[in-house]
Amino acid sequence: MATDGKGYRTALVTGASSGIGRALSAWLARRGVRVFAAARRLDELRKLQAELSSASGKLEPLEMDVGKARETIQQIQELDDASGGLDLIVANAGVGFETHAKRIQWDRVEQIIQVNVLGASATLCAVLPRMVERNSGFEVHGSEGHQRLSRVREERDDGKEQVQDAVPDGN
Ligand SMILES: NC(=O)c1ccc[n+]([C@@H]2O[C@H](COP(=O)([O-])OP(=O)(O)OC[C@H]3O[C@@H](n4cnc5c(N)ncnc54)[C@H](OP(=O)(O)O)[C@@H]3O)[C@@H](O)[C@H]2O)c1
Repeated sequence: MATDGKGYRTALVTGASSGIGRALSAWLARRGVRVFAAARRLDELRKLQAELSSASGKLEPLEMDVGKARETIQQIQELDDASGGLDLIVANAGVGFETHAKRIQWDRVEQIIQVNVLGASATLCAVLPRMVERNSGFEVHGSEGHQRLSRVREERDDGKEQVQDAVPDGN
């Protein structure tokens, strides 16, 4: 039974197969929350599920690629229907690459936008109107995108790098 899971009955955490999302999913499940743990690597999610088999809550693996925004929206709406309403959504799935401005590759930037910006936005938009309608629910945007993209690494004359804000990002 839930103890200090902040009153959430159900939660969706994207990017739950490693790092912050994995830890947060485990934290919630241990506190009695029914957690839908989403990512592309289903095998990693199943390992987490096995580790948490004795937790008071329940962790359910969910294969999801947030890079496919429309499919993600549909998948989350179906989950919202099937679960009786999601109380918490954490859009945590993200990718990041450290690179020097001289070596930046569009393919990588495009992937960051696809996953961290469009994917996270799709995750949060999917049931936002429903949450407003039922006057309950909480959403968190955990992935990083705009911050990184708005920063430029410059190589100084002395060979050291300095980071400058290229575009004010409001963070
Ligand atoms: N660590 C930091 O210092 C830091 C700082 C600021 C912000 N953040 C943000 O916090 C989030 C988590 O960071 P982390 O360090 O825990 O990263 P991480 O260990 O690399 O985990 C990233 C997670 O995102 C998932 N993911 C990647 N692409 C996906 C896709 N297309 N669809 C669904 N899931 C996808 C990965 O799972 P699969 O590969 O299995 O899909 C993985 O579970 C990221 O969004 C990151 O930008 C991190």
